[in-house]
Amino acid sequence: MDQAEAKKRIEKLSAQINELRYRYHVLDDPGITDQIYDSLTRELVGLEAKYPQFRLPNSPTQRVAGAALDKFEKIRHEARMLSLTDAFSKEEMIDWEERINKLLPGIRLDYFCELKFDGLAVSLRYKRGNFDVAATRGDGETGENVTGNVRTIQSVPLYLPEKKDIEVRGEAIMTKEVWEFLNKQQEKEEKPLYANTRNAAAGSIRQLDPKITASRKLQYYAYDLITDLGQKTHEEIHRKLKDFGFRISTYEKHAKNLNEVFEFYNQVEKMRDKLPFGIDGIVVSVNDLAFLKRLGVVGKAPRGMIAFKFAPEQATTVVEGIMVNVGRSGKLTPVAMLRPVFVGGTTVSRATLHNEDEIRRLDVRIGDTVVIQRAGDVIPDVVQVLPKMRMGKEKKFFMPKACPVCKETVVSRFIGSKKEKSVDYYCPNPSCPTKNLRYMEYFVSAFNIYTIGPKILQRFKEEGLISDVVDLFYLKKEDIQSLERFGEKSAENIVTSIQARKQVTLPKFIYALGITHVGEETAFDLAQRLGSIEKLMDATPEEINAIPNIGSVVSESIVAYFSDRKNRSFVERLIKAGIQIETIKVRKTPLTGKSIVVTGTLESMSREEAKEAVRQAGGDWVSSVSKNTDYVVVGENPGSKYEKAQKLGIKIINEKEFLKLIGE
Ligand code: IVH
Repeated sequence: MDQAEAKKRIEKLSAQINELRYRYHVLDDPGITDQIYDSLTRELVGLEAKYPQFRLPNSPTQRVAGAALDKFEKIRHEARMLSLTDAFSKEEMIDWEERINKLLPGIRLDYFCELKFDGLAVSLRYKRGNFDVAATRGDGETGENVTGNVRTIQSVPLYLPEKKDIEVRGEAIMTKEVWEFLNKQQEKEEKPLYANTRNAAAGSIRQLDPKITASRKLQYYAYDLITDLGQKTHEEIHRKLKDFGFRISTYEKHAKNLNEVFEFYNQVEKMRDKLPFGIDGIVVSVNDLAFLKRLGVVGKAPRGMIAFKFAPEQATTVVEGIMVNVGRSGKLTPVAMLRPVFVGGTTVSRATLHNEDEIRRLDVRIGDTVVIQRAGDVIPDVVQVLPKMRMGKEKKFFMPKACPVCKETVVSRFIGSKKEKSVDYYCPNPSCPTKNLRYMEYFVSAFNIYTIGPKILQRFKEEGLISDVVDLFYLKKEDIQSLERFGEKSAENIVTSIQARKQVTLPKFIYALGITHVGEETAFDLAQRLGSIEKLMDATPEEINAIPNIGSVVSESIVAYFSDRKNRSFVERLIKAGIQIETIKVRKTPLTGKSIVVTGTLESMSREEAKEAVRQAGGDWVSSVSKNTDYVVVGENPGSKYEKAQKLGIKIINEKEFLKLIGE
């Protein structure tokens, strides 16, 4: 980026952040996620540090978020309501410690850790022990008087055990349960939904009718005492607050060093989903208040405190290019090449754009600033474009007319219903090298051959050891060993693991062929009904169509696959290479026709095996719990599915009972 571009980007970022800030903090707009906002702000902070000459005088980095609404009386805070600096990694925490160590040389600091509640900061003033005034943060100097609303929160004490003048800071929050209930109600009344518990909490406090606040069943967690009552540590503040009758989280820890802070962080992250309310990280404070004071304030945040946040699931970045991937069926998928960005716990540099229709729907152009999302382990997605960030040099993207690998002219296929028709492009060349490689990757994973990943497959292909997956079964130790960087041991491992997978069940074999529209479930249904690969190869569309759960699109795709001579010979060559296909017998058991979910680890079998066992017992293996689930099997360390099952009142069984059900 050159100087002129940096200047322009700083201006764009400032304007966009300001608009988001207004909508988020002033209008309580639930459609904005603060992660987008944070992400843009981080970029701006970075750019301003590099080019301070371009920082705007009223840059959004220079003030605390949110102005007081006109509809509430304004209140000046006696002590400024500060904010916190964010850290997203251990490295950033270590940097923070180094910074404060430099300012307090030779002093060993210990820390106090607590939850970072995802709600609305509220300051409470007590006069001679009586609840007097409650205020929101506003711009940090002046907030809104929300006394009437906060008075309805049951966890806010109306009088204290001692007749003292004090000021307490804490967070008004809404539990996930109340939030879900509230959104159901909003939906019924066709009112806008609240994006998260924090928005819902903010919206419930920043409205004029205390009756509404009361109906929202908010809670208040106190975390700071502003008034000096002789407290020496942050830990002591929590003790005092508790004695005054405030609600304090039970999850807190006095940490002797950063390692203990990290332990607490890990523990909290693990049980985060089980908490009844939302948190977005932990708050770490220098425990000794005298040191905390000496460390002072930088900008809007105390230097001796930091928010150690969980990885955000959304972030903004720039699309630097769009590449086209060729899949195993020849399908062309556009992929956004991103300026690397940290999201969902990892650095992401590419995200799928699915197909051309998705590109048009989002109106993504090369050079655009976009919002990407990565939740859990799913593939990152571009969810939104920020068109206001455009500089005018963005380029529209069109799918290529030729396969980017083999240059064969692409063909198009319509998918979806009449109403929601979309088009996919395919490389029709049966010997397109990338297409073949992708299919091989799919095949080895379907066959559970774990020792060979994409890199090894590519290498074997380049070295001429294999030209398709059939060759894998003829590989010898010596072939592999002669390659550079492969030792005798690894060569042997690979060969043994391939040979060990020569026996497969019929459903697995069908699935591994990679026929369009034939996933694991369909493969199982086909295997169960038809009984052998030969029957499947010769089945008519009508015969396949007659199988429950299978429609005409699928049956046509299967018939088309086997009408290709090359595919028939592929199956024959696999069998000749020694693949033994076991037919499956579906037994009649108490599980027949029942749907079953397994959560946690089972002692006696892997997930794969459990899935197979359930299907062979006539059961339906499903991955998520709903009211239609019949059984939930709970193994070691169950996940949130366990709780969901309990809530829905679904029959919960242990591993022993499960084995009995499947007749083992
Ligand atoms: S201490 C100097 N402790 O996070 C600021 N804040 O990003 C004092 N928050 O405005 C804040 N949980 O709304 C503190 N345990 C906690 C918190 C917490 C949530 C919020 C609070 C604050 C914001 C700062």
